[in-house]
Amino acid sequence: MNQASVIGKGPMDGAIGLFNHTSEGNSVHRLLERIPQAALLVGPEGQVLCCNRAARTVFGHDPIGTLPVPIGECIAQFPRQVDWTGTDGTAHSIQVEVESIEWQGNTLRMLTIPSPGADQPPALLDYNIAPGWTAIIDGLEEMVLVADEHFRIRHVNRAALEGFSCDAATLLNRPYYEIVHGSSSLPAYLSALGSGSGPQWVVEETEEPHLGRFFKIMVSRLETPPGHEPVLAIVIQDQTRKLQHEREAQRLNLALAKSFSGITRALSDLVEGRDPYTAGHSGSVAKLAARIGGEMRLAEDEIEGLRVCAILHDIGKASVPSSILNKPGRLSPYEWGMLKEHPSKAYEALRHIPFPWPVAEVVYQHHERLDGSGYPRGLKAEEIHLWARILAVSDVVDAMSNHRPYRPRLPLKVVLEEIRGGRGDRYDKRVVDAYLELLRREANRVMVVDDEPLMLDFVTEVLQLEGLEVAAFRDPIAALEAFEKAPYPLVVTDLKMPGMDGFELIKRARAVNPDTEVIVITGSGDKHGAVEALRLGARDFLEKPMEIKTLQNAVTEALSHYRGWG
Ligand SMILES: [Fe+2]
Ligand SMILES: [Fe+2]
Repeated sequence: MNQASVIGKGPMDGAIGLFNHTSEGNSVHRLLERIPQAALLVGPEGQVLCCNRAARTVFGHDPIGTLPVPIGECIAQFPRQVDWTGTDGTAHSIQVEVESIEWQGNTLRMLTIPSPGADQPPALLDYNIAPGWTAIIDGLEEMVLVADEHFRIRHVNRAALEGFSCDAATLLNRPYYEIVHGSSSLPAYLSALGSGSGPQWVVEETEEPHLGRFFKIMVSRLETPPGHEPVLAIVIQDQTRKLQHEREAQRLNLALAKSFSGITRALSDLVEGRDPYTAGHSGSVAKLAARIGGEMRLAEDEIEGLRVCAILHDIGKASVPSSILNKPGRLSPYEWGMLKEHPSKAYEALRHIPFPWPVAEVVYQHHERLDGSGYPRGLKAEEIHLWARILAVSDVVDAMSNHRPYRPRLPLKVVLEEIRGGRGDRYDKRVVDAYLELLRREANRVMVVDDEPLMLDFVTEVLQLEGLEVAAFRDPIAALEAFEKAPYPLVVTDLKMPGMDGFELIKRARAVNPDTEVIVITGSGDKHGAVEALRLGARDFLEKPMEIKTLQNAVTEALSHYRGWG
């Protein structure tokens, strides 16, 4: 049963049939279809005699024979605003223009709804999607939405209907971003689409929690014949499963990497356990090597490989008797010969393990020096892997900075003399420079401890103005805790404080890092306290009240001494 037969009791009943079945009616149909706006031909009582495709889209159904608008009111005042409720129940206010047409002694009205505006439901324009194209679009695996310039969906392919699990009526005429992104506003990436002269397409990868999906979306402007509205194609690839696979692979890789690094760590601990002096050595070398690698802009994966090499670099010491490793005096030539075998022994042990990095080779080379003075093979310059050159510097810095059975730890100044002295000769210039840069930046941090807020603020502000990174503490116990986590190159501290005095703080801080410089702030006339602080290793003392310049000079001098400049 069609709409005409429902209404077909009035005087225009025959007229409806005529419009639908005669050649005259057909030409009126063709005429209406050429009108881009939604257009309806309405009889004297307001029933629709015929309409175009755009009008069917506006009303969401075929309005032939229905009474879509209060025609009498339209005629009384036109153009006029007509309230109308869509098939989805949403209220629209549409502007209708009315013209009178005389036909077979009757006055008909031509109602047109002007070009779609923001508040109006759009009219489906002729997108010239040729049937062949429709078939191609429908055959695509990707979801394809064809939209007008306001991004409202005008055509959907089969994949999109399946992908969004709904029928075309749910999708048509809605902005695509409502469906895809669950948002009522234009997505930011569309700003890159341009308006004609700029780029004609954008690609976006986006996770849509409201759908539980991950999409790769391409929005492109299609070429349309002159006079036609712009047309956009939105092609959507559902990458949810691919992403799930990738995430699962990442999770497994991470778990594998963790257990792998645990095994590496266990191996190195086993070796270091035989030699209390080198306990923690590999871990410290790995930390420093990774920081130097980062400073040299090595890729993430390279730094990971470098870290593994560092952890395992001394694993060959497992074959060296602990009596040699722990010998307090000089080694005999025989003993020295055995110790020097540790890189080769490590190479033999590691070369059968299929690491994703050249671990065995790098470990083999960690005692080689650019000038050929290293061991075991006396390799030179480029023959030595970059990671082995980074390991060389990190290894020497850490070994010299710690106690050994045959000597006490060496001050940073001496370490720097070795590293700087060998720059470009024994050690790679770029590696040395990266290390010095790290040190320079690190030696920018100052800890200030004073229970008097005014003095604490004063010192903090002066030092911050010098461009230093200042950590200020009123409580010496909290300061010491922070220091133990990450030692500071310089501590400026008051002497008389509740909880822990400055002397105790100096002692404990320098036990953690003997290279830390200390400046103490003393009350006027406390010469005894100042002397005691100097005896504990403080570099300088400042008497309250102090000049800004005096404080600046003392801090600059202490930091440059720490860096080995002074
Ligand atoms: Fe070594
Ligand atoms: Fe080492």
